[in-house]
Amino acid sequence: MEPRLEANLVNWNSRVRVHVESRFYDVEGWLLRTPGPPSREIEALGDLEGKTLVHLQCHFGMDTMQWARAGATVTGLDFSPASIDEAISLAERAGLSERASFVCANIYDAPQALSGKRFDVVYVSLGALCWLPDVTAWGGVVADLLAPGGRLYLHDGHPFASCLDDGGERVIYGYFEEPDSPFSSDSTLTYTDGERISATRIYEWNHSIGEIVAALIGRDLVIDSLIEHDWTLFQQFPWLVENTSGQLVVPEGHPRIPLSFTLLAHAPSKVEEPLRSSEA
Ligand SMILES: C[S@@+](CC[C@H](N)C(=O)[O-])C[C@H]1O[C@@H](n2cnc3c(N)ncnc32)[C@H](O)[C@@H]1O
Repeated sequence: MEPRLEANLVNWNSRVRVHVESRFYDVEGWLLRTPGPPSREIEALGDLEGKTLVHLQCHFGMDTMQWARAGATVTGLDFSPASIDEAISLAERAGLSERASFVCANIYDAPQALSGKRFDVVYVSLGALCWLPDVTAWGGVVADLLAPGGRLYLHDGHPFASCLDDGGERVIYGYFEEPDSPFSSDSTLTYTDGERISATRIYEWNHSIGEIVAALIGRDLVIDSLIEHDWTLFQQFPWLVENTSGQLVVPEGHPRIPLSFTLLAHAPSKVEEPLRSSEA
């Protein structure tokens, strides 16, 4: 694995225990409440009873397993062994092991790690693409994992918001993909409450909305919708406030900016035959 991804892997391994014990993820509450997917995801994907879903960068699997509760057979993939170990043990505790399995692999190796299997849904939830140096290659992975007619659900942080510093005050990072110039930083903090983490160095890459769309179109996926949201799901900047739906938003009276986005796409159902010359 390339050294910057290696550094990120060490960082993610060191976050897992802190996250599992955090109020932010509230694992014990989640086990008691047994939530299914959020309503906005159900609206987007409909009933997935009996369908197969792969969750890329699944962390320790809470978002993944919400779709198992909704009747899908789910597979989570993440490159952090600590995440995958926690996901497997959480699936057992939640009684979801029969419908939820987890695979440890770098996302760029996902098609081989999943033995060429194709899925009805490729699912990606918040905090994913910024960890990947090459969004075009990511688009190829998505295309290689989708069954004919299969759908992509992607909800992620908006690349405009990723241009701002931690205080959300100044543009300090570029909007466009620069595979060789990642944002690098050192911090003992993570996005949850809890202890400080030991492995601090991380590398992140921004990918513009246009580059993300082009990565999917370039692999013949069809974009069904793209919505930019004025909300996110974590305290990305200190001045964001929580609204009544539990989303973090810009305080009223201030200019709204995009904080996250949702993109839906699908793979063609079958390869279009080229027109024969007599039909042209
Ligand atoms: C912010 S977390 C995703 C949180 C997720 N939305 C959830 O369900 O909780 C980002 C995840 O990406 C994973 N990751 C980062 N780079 C990766 C890579 N190259 N291949 C696979 N997983 C990766 C990390 O291990 C981490 O679990």
